[in-house]
Amino acid sequence: MFDSGVGGLTVLHECLVALPEEDFIYLGDTGRFPYGPRPIGDIRAFAGQIASHLLSLDVKLLVVACNSATAAALPWLQERLDASIIGAVHPESEAAVQTTQNRKIGVLATEATIASRSYQRALLELDAGLQVVAQSCPELASMIQAGDVSSPEMVAAVKGYANPLKEAEVDTVILGCTHYPLVTPMLQRVFGRDVTLINPAREIARQAGQTLERKGARNAAGREGAYSFLCTGNVEAFVDVGARFLQMPFDDVRGIEIPELERMTVA
Ligand code: DGL
Repeated sequence: MFDSGVGGLTVLHECLVALPEEDFIYLGDTGRFPYGPRPIGDIRAFAGQIASHLLSLDVKLLVVACNSATAAALPWLQERLDASIIGAVHPESEAAVQTTQNRKIGVLATEATIASRSYQRALLELDAGLQVVAQSCPELASMIQAGDVSSPEMVAAVKGYANPLKEAEVDTVILGCTHYPLVTPMLQRVFGRDVTLINPAREIARQAGQTLERKGARNAAGREGAYSFLCTGNVEAFVDVGARFLQMPFDDVRGIEIPELERMTVA
């Protein structure tokens, strides 16, 4: 599993709960976080390097936990690599379409994700009559990562991003960035009780489980799986923030140099 940083730990946590018998290796590209403001070509190149590295470790399923990387690179990776690769966007789009009553769905995500129009395409393929309101939220992931979750700036930013969705009267909102589920209480207060917030992590974990099940690749029930981490930035900082995000033991962590990843290119 990989992500631009620590946000994908929300996905890892759901997978650890849903698939306790499996082993996980999580790569956080903290040295190049955030992906959201970057051009699609850069995100694709990073995703290609990381996917090639993880596949060289002989994994049975690759999960692109990062919404920006999924939007920029998932089909591109799937076309080029001989592996089972799943990601964000489709699983939670399906959940959102199943949930909405008024067929008005909001999406909050990074600039790269919104610009790719991945959510708009995925949602309209499932229900061509939907109204989709997509809102990019520059800086929001970085503010959450910095731990600044209760500052007046943060509250103002969240209200500002939520406004167009509220005005459009959406009844379902996809939290289309790994970090946003971490401010669910604030988002729920801003949107109100009648709006359903969709957390992609849960849907991705479900898809990972179904994929392994159908391929006959699940480990034996009752086994306790292990999990370990790689990161491209400062290891201590990763452990510090990562342990806060995961709220579980966070021991087996190794650094990996960006130049080492850059040698892994996808044709
Ligand atoms: N994992 C990224 C995402 O879901 C977090 C934000 C970023 O890297 O800009 O889009």
